[in-house]
Amino acid sequence: MIKNKKIEQALIGQIKNEEHSSRLYMAMASWCHANGFHGASKYLFKQSDEERAHMLKIVNYVNERGGHATLSELDNLTDNYKTLIEVFEKILKHEEFITTEINNLYEESMKSKDYATATFIQWFITEQLEEESTFQDILDKMRMTGSTPGGVYWIDRELAMIAAGRG
Ligand code: FEO
Repeated sequence: MIKNKKIEQALIGQIKNEEHSSRLYMAMASWCHANGFHGASKYLFKQSDEERAHMLKIVNYVNERGGHATLSELDNLTDNYKTLIEVFEKILKHEEFITTEINNLYEESMKSKDYATATFIQWFITEQLEEESTFQDILDKMRMTGSTPGGVYWIDRELAMIAAGRG
């Protein structure tokens, strides 16, 4: 049982964060497609699915521990960008925010001696590390080559390969 209501609420807050991430990446994927970046679009649709899977993971965890995983009202999204680099800069910033939220959740669980939740959250800590490093890597490549038309074409193809599991 999740006895501590504060922890349950914090987990529900994280469900909202993951759902927001999923919608944000879907909006970005759609923008990419509309602007001719088809590789980036495929990649971000896949990321959107991953974020939904993260959301479901927490929904199931809360319910399996006798809580009630409710859904929150959704925040508005921006779905207009100037460049592909801007999209990925915003993603990295967003993921850094998510990492802070996950770390706070871990800290709260430890303070409340809810070791089951702390252990559950460890998976997300590792996931955030991987995501931040992946997005930083993509951004570095974009900054190196992305301002030229050839560079944008190359990075879009790279993202298509990653999305297809060949990157
Ligand atoms: Fe599930 Fe990237 O946060």
